[in-house]
Amino acid sequence: SRRAALAVAAGGLALPALQARAQGVTTIKFSHVVADSTPKGQAAIRFKEAAEKLLPGKVKVEVYPNSQLYGDAKEMEALLLGDVQILAPSLSKFDRFTKSLQVFDLPFLFADMEAADRFQASETGRKLLNSIEKRGLLGLGYLHNGLKQLSANRPLLLPGDAKGLKFRVQSSDVLVAQFQQLGANPQKLAFSEVYQALQTGAVDGQENTWSNCYSQKYQEVQSDFTETNHGLIDYMLVTNSKWWRGLSDEVRDGVSKALEEAIQLNNTNAQKLNDDARAKIAESKAKIHTLSADQRAQWREAMRPVWKKFEKDIGADIIAAAEQAGQ
Ligand code: LMR
Repeated sequence: SRRAALAVAAGGLALPALQARAQGVTTIKFSHVVADSTPKGQAAIRFKEAAEKLLPGKVKVEVYPNSQLYGDAKEMEALLLGDVQILAPSLSKFDRFTKSLQVFDLPFLFADMEAADRFQASETGRKLLNSIEKRGLLGLGYLHNGLKQLSANRPLLLPGDAKGLKFRVQSSDVLVAQFQQLGANPQKLAFSEVYQALQTGAVDGQENTWSNCYSQKYQEVQSDFTETNHGLIDYMLVTNSKWWRGLSDEVRDGVSKALEEAIQLNNTNAQKLNDDARAKIAESKAKIHTLSADQRAQWREAMRPVWKKFEKDIGADIIAAAEQAGQ
């Protein structure tokens, strides 16, 4: 046919473009583990809206929140297999792929979210987006959630108060070490299992941002929250590099723009969503404790040995760069 003749005449160069067109609509599955109402949940929805607007009829985005499609355990595998195209796991969940991202888990590294932002935007921070490339994954950008707080069924005002308690942690050895420093017992658990573990007493406490705590209803199963701001929950937007390279230029550009929009919204929104969630927890039957400067310094002191412990794995230069941006 004429079209076939054209394709042949066009030769090898035009072939990828023709193939992309022949595929018709590109479906992008974006899977994550948190609620729609959280900073990441909102960013995912904005990405869908922006991508479908920028690439009408060319791209369809399906967002799966709440571990609906994949939970923590399976999502990276699914990405590598091509069953899902975009994820935004917390930076604590890349252990298996690189040790350098563990820098983000060091306790009391970032004084506030502006500090985290500065580090992510720095040369070292940008380079860390490429730290998983060898594994077939491509980092497309960072998303914010916020700083972590502690909760349990008793007030945690001094490091010693955590002694002997079981705490749920994400799958990060740094976070395991952090609770071991307190004489507590850390347990790695998938995010989707935390509410039930708290409810049944399988664990006594946990650490997370206000928006994650509130949207998971931890205030129903924890009597006391402590505003420690001791660590960070942020995310890396990640895709399968082979899939990404296979997109047509037009689709890849549009998707990049849509991701930028989502990141932009996330930057302006995350803090407010956490503040709102904190206010909601304050209205609940759970109590929020704040720390004096001296109490906070004691937590910092107690957790600080973790830095040295992971210095080799992470790289002293990366830690120094983060610390410099972080203050
Ligand atoms: C967690 O497991 O606590 C968080 O990483 C969940 C999330 O995606 O914010």
